[in-house]
Amino acid sequence: MKLGVVILAAGQGSRMKSAIPKVLHPIAGKPMLAHVIETARKLNPDNIVVVYGHGGELVREQMASADVEWALQEQQLGTGHAVEQAMPLLGSVDRILVLYADVPLIRHETLLRLIESSADTNLGMLTVELDNPTGYGRIVRDEEGAVSQIVEQKDASAAEFAIHEVNVGIMLINRERLATWIERLDDNNAQGEFYLTDIISMAVKQGAVISTVSPDDLFEVAGVNDRVQLAELERELQSVGAQELMRNGVTVIDPARIDIRGNASVSQDVTLDVNVILEGDVELGEGVRVGANSILRNCKVAAGTVIKEMCVIEDAIIGESCQIGPFARIRPGTELAPGCHIGNFVEIKNAQVARDSKVNHLSYVGDATVGESVNIGAGTITCNYDGAYKHRTVIGDHVFVGSDTQLVAPVTVESGATIGAGSTITADVKENALALSRTKQRSVMNWKRPQKDKG
Ligand code: UD1
Ligand code: CA
Repeated sequence: MKLGVVILAAGQGSRMKSAIPKVLHPIAGKPMLAHVIETARKLNPDNIVVVYGHGGELVREQMASADVEWALQEQQLGTGHAVEQAMPLLGSVDRILVLYADVPLIRHETLLRLIESSADTNLGMLTVELDNPTGYGRIVRDEEGAVSQIVEQKDASAAEFAIHEVNVGIMLINRERLATWIERLDDNNAQGEFYLTDIISMAVKQGAVISTVSPDDLFEVAGVNDRVQLAELERELQSVGAQELMRNGVTVIDPARIDIRGNASVSQDVTLDVNVILEGDVELGEGVRVGANSILRNCKVAAGTVIKEMCVIEDAIIGESCQIGPFARIRPGTELAPGCHIGNFVEIKNAQVARDSKVNHLSYVGDATVGESVNIGAGTITCNYDGAYKHRTVIGDHVFVGSDTQLVAPVTVESGATIGAGSTITADVKENALALSRTKQRSVMNWKRPQKDKG
């Protein structure tokens, strides 16, 4: 059976109090709408139609790379009206799954159960029992327990109001039937809207059986109306992510204090200390340790490397058994070969550093190629920028750069060379040479320091 998915995303989301459309607000670094599209995609549907409205251009712009159809709902006349806008774009599918873009954490396993359970019915839906059902449409069942209708809270009688089983909005509907039901919807109700939920009683009158399925976790069907709920779902998702890591052999020191915003691939025996943030595509090899408050964004870190506290690493490739930090900043384009040590207050940018080299203190190495077993002393700076252009610094194997050296690029220091501390290197240094460029020390004997006038 061919499946079409309709994602409702036209609501204003006024309680977000935001210039940004609600469905673009991120959870785990990704817009809510993107989560729902991704989940829908896992069901291998024939097509996905997103119904957009308020702020729609921005939504389409930001989600341009998503391979979906877009249906504009100019006025938000209700969920039934919204689905109607999507119908012409759905093609020849047999069943339609309705999802909400502001219910971002629905699991595809739950949707699969819905799809399976309603294989022989014309209508399946997700329902849950809530302690506090305020605001939701209530599920009304007959004496045999079969669903007979959904009543919106604003239209509910006292008895219906007291029902705790609610509609979460997610439904799977036979396409042909839906077309005939939608035609017959009206807006004679408390909110003056075309309710999608009214198709339930129509279906029941035609003798259709309605199947219901419940999710394993309540957060799957929780909607986001304001930023408090957004933050709650963020924590739920992070907690699920942390548990998954731990089950796969990762030590997470405090699962309530870790954030994964993207696709982290974390190997066994990795340890993540508190307040670690992994953003984008991050790969951590076996036994890697990441210290407290470190942020890793789009990077690969090979096995056995230790990243100490307070490091920021972005768009970089770090080899095996390196030591980084605390307080190191590794910027885009950095590649560290195995065994490198990058110490505190060191910034590395667009530099390739060969194995076992050390930059341990207070240095800037940018646009540089650094050989093997090089020792770069404290306070060394590659002067890569002349105000207009960037230039490279090339340092050969086994070079020793004394502390407080400036390497004015473009410049090459050949292998085995030594640079005396405090030098400003403006010309290439030959293999195994010693280069020094500091003024000779002189001493004035019995120097009297100036003193303040006592009178
Ligand atoms: C809807 C259900 C209710 C259910 C609740 C779950 C109806 C009539 N009611 O009520 O039974 O318990 O969801 O949250 O369906 N939307 C559009 N266009 C519109 C109206 C809504 O795209 O014209 C979208 C919204 O962006 C949102 C979703 O549909 O993603 C639900 O709309 P909302 O107004 O929140 O519906 P509720 O009144 O909460
Ligand atoms: Ca809602």
